[in-house]
Amino acid sequence: MTYALNVNGRMHSVDVDGDIPLLWVLRDVIGLTGTKFGCGIGICGACTVHFDGQAVRSCVTSIEHSASSEITTIEEVGETATGARIQQAWLAEEVVQCGYCSPARSSRRRSRSRSDQALPIPRLRARIRPVN
Ligand code: FES
Repeated sequence: MTYALNVNGRMHSVDVDGDIPLLWVLRDVIGLTGTKFGCGIGICGACTVHFDGQAVRSCVTSIEHSASSEITTIEEVGETATGARIQQAWLAEEVVQCGYCSPARSSRRRSRSRSDQALPIPRLRARIRPVN
């Protein structure tokens, strides 16, 4: 079946099975590989994207449930004021370890920070907490 997806402000027409997770459509069909596969069962968050500004796990979200939302991936997060400030703070604080989960962690942080656009970088830094 063909689905029309709004991803990062651009429309994409994809011809896939209705039960395929959004993660694989983003990575393998559209070619946006910043969203990562981790557990595949909605636990780790490596596959986080935004639906209308809310963080969702794309590995457990079917393409059928994706067609009516505005989807934002990590490729676009850095283009927003909040996302760019979060990425600056991450670089300044050397948050990245191996980097595999960084796109998802940055996306989740942005989802929580939509009202934080005026926060200075030191306050954003203070909100970045280590993960055990
Ligand atoms: S890959 Fe782990 S929550 Fe999606």
